[in-house]
Amino acid sequence: MCVCNALTDRMLLQAASLIGSTRPSRVYAACGCRLQCGTCVPAVARLLQRQAAETREPSMAAE
Ligand code: FES
Repeated sequence: MCVCNALTDRMLLQAASLIGSTRPSRVYAACGCRLQCGTCVPAVARLLQRQAAETREPSMAAE
């Protein structure tokens, strides 16, 4: 998902879960990286926000 830092969506979601934050800059830091070109930020922000929303409102299918 982040080519500059070789971060996958799974790595980003795990880091966000560990630190309890959806702020991309904090998640990158938790991965031991920092933002470089910035191309990935919109997609990463959407991924983290979607995950946070799903965590708050689990799908009915999961019940
Ligand atoms: S693709 Fe993520 S910082 Fe460049």
